Amino acid sequence: MSFEITIEKTQNSRINQFDPQNIGFGKIFTDHMFLANWNGSEWTNARIEPYGPLNLSPATSAIHYGQSIFEGMKAFADKKTGKPLLFRPRENWKRLNRSAERMVMPVVPEDLFMDGLKALIQLDAEWVPQTEGGSLYIRPFMFATDDFIGVKPSENYIFAIFCCPVGPYYTKALKIKVEEEFSRAAPGGVGFTKCAGNYGAAMYPTMRAQQEGYDQVLWTDPLTHTLVEETGTTNLFAVFHNEVITPKLGNTLLAGITRDSVIQGLRELGHSVIERELSVDELKERLEEGELKEIFITGTAATLIRIQGFGHAGEYFEVLDQGSTAISDGIKQWLDAIRHGEAEDVFSWNESV
Ligand SMILES: Cc1ncc(COP(=O)(O)O)c(C=O)c1O
Repeated sequence: MSFEITIEKTQNSRINQFDPQNIGFGKIFTDHMFLANWNGSEWTNARIEPYGPLNLSPATSAIHYGQSIFEGMKAFADKKTGKPLLFRPRENWKRLNRSAERMVMPVVPEDLFMDGLKALIQLDAEWVPQTEGGSLYIRPFMFATDDFIGVKPSENYIFAIFCCPVGPYYTKALKIKVEEEFSRAAPGGVGFTKCAGNYGAAMYPTMRAQQEGYDQVLWTDPLTHTLVEETGTTNLFAVFHNEVITPKLGNTLLAGITRDSVIQGLRELGHSVIERELSVDELKERLEEGELKEIFITGTAATLIRIQGFGHAGEYFEVLDQGSTAISDGIKQWLDAIRHGEAEDVFSWNESV
């Protein structure tokens, strides 16, 4: 199936107000957005409009009952041509649909997702920062729009995409708190989805961690709080002297696309990467023995950031000062070069617009 997309261009482009040297994260939006409606049986009215407010009923079902999911992906400026390169967009499309299925929401067809995305990026291509560390963050999302009070799956939905030019999400190595009291996700729950509720539920524990001087929470398994899972918006890797370990996937953590790219990249660079259970005790013991060299986290927004140290049971464990940065530097450079079209795209991850 192919979708016809109607395009209404803005009469008041804001591009001249945009300073690529001073971007921040998530505060500036490009000129246009993509929208489509699910009417209970099919996707209709695929369109691009000037970016702006949506007109919604106070009874909009997503607000009350939580059928709301999203994705986060990026386009990077090709260093040679300046044109946008989308990084693994079809992986985000697949993950959006895994979230949709779990939340009883309609599937978004691949061509609606990809055609809408490419048309939008083409129109707003000038907004893709050419500056070092800059990129265009892209937010596809879907939410229930029935104006109806009662707990049942909505019949109507909006699927939409908007974009923000962004700089780095974090600018320094992070301190993370191993969470032992609160849980992000339960077995059989929705931890593997990007549903909005996961993020709302994480805010209180994250605020508490920040009040204690940490940047982020490191979530542990909800049953024993002894196994490391992921942070609030990233997956995690630990580098021991001859191997890299990342927690194995399950239904309580998000299958990060950066995580998958980093695993493939590290193997390409000749490192051994193992996906398995990783306990907090192992991190502490091997740090003490001098075997834990690096911890880093990965995500679309955060990219790849090193961990300064972690807090556990009221104690702080410094990692970076005694460790190294060799593996995280190497894989970050490898990935950045591919995303900016500077190195051979060995896995065919980039899609030009
Ligand atoms: C909870 C959580 N874990 C991990 C990630 C990293 O996923 P990705 O690399 O696909 O951005 C994200 C970001 O989407 C996230 O929200």
